[in-house]
Amino acid sequence: MRSRSFLFTISIGAILIIFVSIRTGLLTVEARTNTYKKWEDLTTNEALERVREENLHGYQYAAPDEDFNEEKLSERDRDLLGKLAKGGSIARDKRTQTIERLYGLDSEDAWNRHIEELDDEGLPPLTKFTQRYIYEHQHPESCKDKKFIVMEAFPNDESFGLGAVMFSISMNLNLALRFNRILIYNPQDGPGRHFIDPSSHELCGKSMDCFFERISSCTMDDLTPDNHFLLPARKEIDQEIMNTDPGSLPQIFGIALKRMYPMITPDALKYWWRGQAVSYIMRFNARTMAELLRKRRDKALHKSLSFDGRDIVDGSNIPFPMPAGSISMHVRHGDKGIEMKLKPFQEYLDAAEGFISQNPMGYRKIAFVSTENPEVLESARDHLQKEHEMYKVVNAKVRTTSDWAWTWYWSDIPRANIGPEQQLETFGNRTDMTINWFLQLMMAIECDMMIGTRGSGWSRMLDNLRCGWLGKCQQPFFDVGDPQDWVFYGI
Ligand SMILES: *[C@@H]1O[C@H](CO)[C@@H](O)[C@H](O)[C@H]1NC(C)=O
Repeated sequence: MRSRSFLFTISIGAILIIFVSIRTGLLTVEARTNTYKKWEDLTTNEALERVREENLHGYQYAAPDEDFNEEKLSERDRDLLGKLAKGGSIARDKRTQTIERLYGLDSEDAWNRHIEELDDEGLPPLTKFTQRYIYEHQHPESCKDKKFIVMEAFPNDESFGLGAVMFSISMNLNLALRFNRILIYNPQDGPGRHFIDPSSHELCGKSMDCFFERISSCTMDDLTPDNHFLLPARKEIDQEIMNTDPGSLPQIFGIALKRMYPMITPDALKYWWRGQAVSYIMRFNARTMAELLRKRRDKALHKSLSFDGRDIVDGSNIPFPMPAGSISMHVRHGDKGIEMKLKPFQEYLDAAEGFISQNPMGYRKIAFVSTENPEVLESARDHLQKEHEMYKVVNAKVRTTSDWAWTWYWSDIPRANIGPEQQLETFGNRTDMTINWFLQLMMAIECDMMIGTRGSGWSRMLDNLRCGWLGKCQQPFFDVGDPQDWVFYGI
């Protein structure tokens, strides 16, 4: 009798316990859904309440903002710090050396060696093979008995931006390789001749050879009436050439890549080829590179804006190279609104901040901004002002990132929110302005992450060149544009 009532009591107890835990369990789940709404879904009052709670409870576990005191260090530690400051253990790393080497290239041979020495893992597939192949094709042992394609300025050359000119040359380089011809420019009327100032014509002609290593060792002297045709075509040329799709690539590379990646998309192949082609075409010659390096080091030519914990500081010191983990933002405005929807600067910022907050050790709030729109730089300043106000606010969005505030860098070159030809006309010396733009390109590819819009040829070119010249293809590119811009770009 006794043991039965004991069992009975225990069972009742067990049922009660189960019942109570279900109840409280349910309660807990309800409470969670209330508390853990996403930050951006909270009303202002809820956000304030969240911050208050974090202060009361969880926030005590955030890292303290300490004042570090050198006085408290041991003799040995102070000694070690002294050595560190002298550069002992932060000697120039490989990244820095590669970027410096790029700025020092002064001949075709130096370019070829530079590409060979890059680490394979950061390069697009088959880059070394392809660059050698193009170089050898364009530099035959003898130019006799060869056939040629001679590229001339487009009828509406002036309306082409630098990106468009480069990619048009890429398309013709495909034709040349595909049909076993050598591509050369007409030095008196080359594509992109409007980028060269009349004052430079004598020194460097009227083709892109003014800025780049010569595209071929063959010249106009090697032409005979029957061994070449002109592009854009002045008369009928082979149907086979006429019918070649502008988005195609030389057969040999298509075959090799499909062996590696049988399911590679045609658009990835096109993007790959454009990258290989511009990496070859745009090898800056010694004169351009010397000028780029001079401008890169010229303090009067650059500006910075940062927050030092008290004030917003205007400066002119851009580190060379741009620091590891820094970000390039190319904000294409100007005349581009004709072709695509222009993206406000805020979208670039949101993309960058979202990514950095997820990868705070890899990337920093340090950016090189290139744009034709002076208002973008004003927006950067406004944003820094907001960060200044938010400094040390207890808020996950402010703290879960790499740095309290952005450091902005840009070059102090003439800007106007208009198209490239109008800019060239407005700013005087065309050669000099073009070199300024190339400088923007070099500084952008020094950075380790890119934000841009692939609808802009310039943005694509930046991505292509950081891959081909610096092996940065495995670093992120954020496209803030329309996804279709990725494939449906014309030239
Ligand atoms: C224009 O700029 C180029 C390149 O810096 C220079 O060689 C040329 O002399 C300049 N022309 C004039 C008129 O200053």
